[in-house]
Amino acid sequence: MTAQAAAENWFRIISAPAPKREAEALLDAAFGLDRRTRASYRLREGSAPVPGLSFHAIDNTSGRLAGLVSFWPLRIHPAGQSALLLGPLAVHPDFQNGGLGAELMRTGLQAARAAGHALAFLVGDEPYYGRYGFTRTPERIILPGPYDPARLLHLELAPGALGDAAGLLLPEWRYEQLREKE
Ligand SMILES: CC(C)(COP(=O)(O)OP(=O)(O)OC[C@H]1O[C@@H](n2cnc3c(N)ncnc32)[C@H](O)[C@@H]1OP(=O)(O)O)[C@@H](O)C(=O)NCCC(=O)NCCS
Repeated sequence: MTAQAAAENWFRIISAPAPKREAEALLDAAFGLDRRTRASYRLREGSAPVPGLSFHAIDNTSGRLAGLVSFWPLRIHPAGQSALLLGPLAVHPDFQNGGLGAELMRTGLQAARAAGHALAFLVGDEPYYGRYGFTRTPERIILPGPYDPARLLHLELAPGALGDAAGLLLPEWRYEQLREKE
């Protein structure tokens, strides 16, 4: 059985955010308790996930929450391009290496493309996300606050979507707030 077939048999993927308390416990287990200091948290602060782009996986045997992924609204300031922030993607350590991460990525990216989104960013490990086509983002695009530029990755869901965009990646609400003041 391929990893994808195994994941499809062992887990069911639900198109909705995971229940909050279970999601927080899973994220603590996957990323550790210091996860809130990460750069991607600053990009999600004050936002809600993009409707229709949150997924969670339930283990068919135990009924436990096994993994989750969601996407959040970003804009590049001042260029104005819309983009998605992918994350968090997490699989509980009890269920890792069974193909579920890949299944959540496949489902999430397919839904993002189907909804017409052209560009996705994330802050994460290139050796992992490279297998889904994410590559290092040119340094003309930056994040607020401290971060490791080698971990800012992007994927063009529509070819050429990044173009020559430059600027600061912000939560969409923050971009709109700045534009109102300009
Ligand atoms: C990353 C994560 C979502 C993968 O989920 P998963 O269900 O275990 O993934 P899959 O079973 O689809 O794929 C496992 C593969 O990913 C690789 N992998 C996992 N984390 C990796 C990382 N940080 N860097 C490189 N490869 C990684 C595994 O070695 C395995 O490789 P293989 O296919 O060559 O055997 C999960 O391990 C997780 O939540 N980890 C904690 C958070 C984390 O470390 N994230 C890293 C990116 S920021």
